Amino acid sequence: MSEQKVGLEIANGVAVISIDNPPVNALGHAVRAGLVEQLAAAEADASVRAIVLACKGRTFSAGADITEFGKPPRAPGLHEVIERFDNCRKPVIAALFGTTLGGGLELALGCHYRVAVESARMGLPEVKLGLLPGAGGTQRLPRLIGPEKAVAAIVSGKMIGAKAALADGLIDAIVSDPVQGAIDFAHTVDPAKLVRVRDRSDKIAAAKADPSAFEAAAAEATKRLKGVEAPAACVEAVRNSFTLPFDEGARAEQQAFMRLVVGDQSRAQRHVFFAEREAQKIPGIGPEVKGAKIGRAVVIGGGTMGGGIAMNFANAGIPVTIVETDEAALARGLDRVRGTYDVSVQRGALPAGTTEKRMALFSGSTDWGVIAEADIVIEAVFEELGLKKEVFARLDGIARPGALLATNTSTLDVDAIAAATKRPGDVLGMHFFSPANVMKLLEIVRGKESSAQSIATAIAVGKTLGKVPVVVGNCDGFVGNRMLARRTIECERLMLEGALPQQVDAVVKAFGFPMGPFAMGDLAGLDVGWRIRKHRGATAPVSDALCEMGRFGQKTGRGYYVYENGSRVPTPDPEVEALISEKAAALGVTRRAISDQEILERMTYPMINEAARILEEGIAIRPSDVDVVWVYGYGWPVWRGGPCFHADLVGLKEIAARLEHYATAVGDETLAPCALLRRLADAGQGFAAFAQDAKAAS
Ligand code: 3HC
Ligand code: NAI
Repeated sequence: MSEQKVGLEIANGVAVISIDNPPVNALGHAVRAGLVEQLAAAEADASVRAIVLACKGRTFSAGADITEFGKPPRAPGLHEVIERFDNCRKPVIAALFGTTLGGGLELALGCHYRVAVESARMGLPEVKLGLLPGAGGTQRLPRLIGPEKAVAAIVSGKMIGAKAALADGLIDAIVSDPVQGAIDFAHTVDPAKLVRVRDRSDKIAAAKADPSAFEAAAAEATKRLKGVEAPAACVEAVRNSFTLPFDEGARAEQQAFMRLVVGDQSRAQRHVFFAEREAQKIPGIGPEVKGAKIGRAVVIGGGTMGGGIAMNFANAGIPVTIVETDEAALARGLDRVRGTYDVSVQRGALPAGTTEKRMALFSGSTDWGVIAEADIVIEAVFEELGLKKEVFARLDGIARPGALLATNTSTLDVDAIAAATKRPGDVLGMHFFSPANVMKLLEIVRGKESSAQSIATAIAVGKTLGKVPVVVGNCDGFVGNRMLARRTIECERLMLEGALPQQVDAVVKAFGFPMGPFAMGDLAGLDVGWRIRKHRGATAPVSDALCEMGRFGQKTGRGYYVYENGSRVPTPDPEVEALISEKAAALGVTRRAISDQEILERMTYPMINEAARILEEGIAIRPSDVDVVWVYGYGWPVWRGGPCFHADLVGLKEIAARLEHYATAVGDETLAPCALLRRLADAGQGFAAFAQDAKAAS
């Protein structure tokens, strides 16, 4: 079997060993075995003077086969393979193209030389899977580019382009064709002067003498990472590269890898990696349904969301037109977009000149005629059903046949909007999250008539825009906001029962969210929820009172917290504490001390219950889709895998029991476990088992 995955061709004294394991040449068992076999053959062949390590298909290897993690190891391990390349007495040149990642780059680091095409990118992204590079990467990369640059690259997991890689010493040449370039390079090297990367010491000498620059780089790389195990392990391993001999450093690295790979954090991060990809597979829509090509986009409404949505198209190089009601609104919208680009350039996040380049792809119009040229139209006008229906009826008369018509509504019925047209198959929801140019999540809301072609196009557009698309059903709040509403209800209750915003926020942050729900509310604006509650006839005594006092959050300097002199740092406010006590007393609630554990349970379990309802109703296709929504749209810590993954770790039995308790204690029947949650809990199963059953049934 191994010879099918790794080939060997010998010509003019150069052996080319080629990995052929689509789609990304992952280094699974058959590949590893094939590499050992073909390397031995090339070494044994007296006609071979040099060896090129190449890959077939679309990219050099993307690393270890992640699906093998957690299974019993099968020899030869990647270490052993790399060691054999390292010890090869003939020069070995790796021919890089596409994305050379993780174990793929570690394999290339075990070669004597690396050449790459200009478009190639390379990196050690293991940290994103809750791991550290485990096949010598933490020891070899510092020996080529220095420990400071290595620690930044390994802790961030970011890729480096070929030009920077050449400047840093990671590669030896940029070539126009990977294999031919490597063969040509092979003819220039002196086999008598081979230096293994492991034996190089020039780039680590300075850190050995004075590690302060390394420590500063390590502190900078890890400063925003809390609660996560892998980055600290990466730092420790890179430090070993200049404090320990190579073999000891490599051994320590391997031990750290073995520890992390069996941990919950890495399991969670690997779950999210596969969940994100699985989310794009829609039962009943096969690969033969291809997304339509998008050459031009129109966004109707250039407000907060419309402007951000349009920026995504310009960022992807797609011309986009904003349609507004009048010239003044249009100018405001375009100015806001320009301002956002300017700020990014000023901060150094985008190169100088980006604003002009991106704005050149923008146009604005008050004339609806421009819509006729669009392949996709995204509506982002005010959240009013009547208005949206009017807009879609008008669109229907102008848009070209087959154009995708999407609404960015966050609460309205997509079917009702689609029914305003004579082509409901071409209509669906594309629910972006604020700020739309930044947030990765895209909920694609499937109406009852939305066609397979429309869904495929929406997914393809989402990917082109760099979003993570998740297809969801049409219901109030879809997946994300519907679950969030459960948490919001508990926030209000917790205040009345005895907790303060700062206590709740601290618990939620300690769990790993970037912000607590109260600070988040202040940032988004408390008036938004207030307006929705009034519209629905709902009340929230404390939050409503704050709004009546004009405390809308950060924008008014006061909300659940105070923000002194334009500060964005929330400061607890005794006035709010007094208000909460007053409202509780008026309702006859005796406030009590509430434990952090109870807060955490009430901030997560009701949402998990709602996720089960969402699955029961088929609004989400699979539990992992819910996880993707929460990781990419709401800041659920990726190393906790999302609400359903987390629920399985806690155990549904425990969660169901606690929900029963809260349903009685609070007197809210809807807190009791829903039928699906109860059934899984009673059977001792988790969401993972539900997902497997659903997959088997489809
Ligand atoms: N192992 C197993 N499967 C992998 C894989 C890997 N390393 N990388 C990608 N795949 C699979 C994906 O799951 C997907 O499968 P599917 O078609 O069944 O859904 C398929 O390959 C194609 O992947 P993408 O859809 O992501 O393709 P893209 O072209 O968009 O992206 C990529 C390609 C940039 C290589 C991206 O897949 C990626 O980032 N892969 C992960 C790279 C990585 O993390 N490498 C480190 C692995 S850990 C390691 O090497 C440990 C070592 O230090 C010991
Ligand atoms: P906004 O008030 O900032 O912008 C709406 C824009 O639409 C205004 O500029 C207005 O002039 C324009 N407009 C109104 N009627 C129009 C018409 N007939 N033709 C052309 N333009 C028209 O509102 P925002 O926040 O951008 O929201 C837009 C939509 O996005 C709403 O449906 C909202 O529910 C949804 N949404 C909002 C999110 C948010 O956080 N603000 C998040 C996700 C979705």
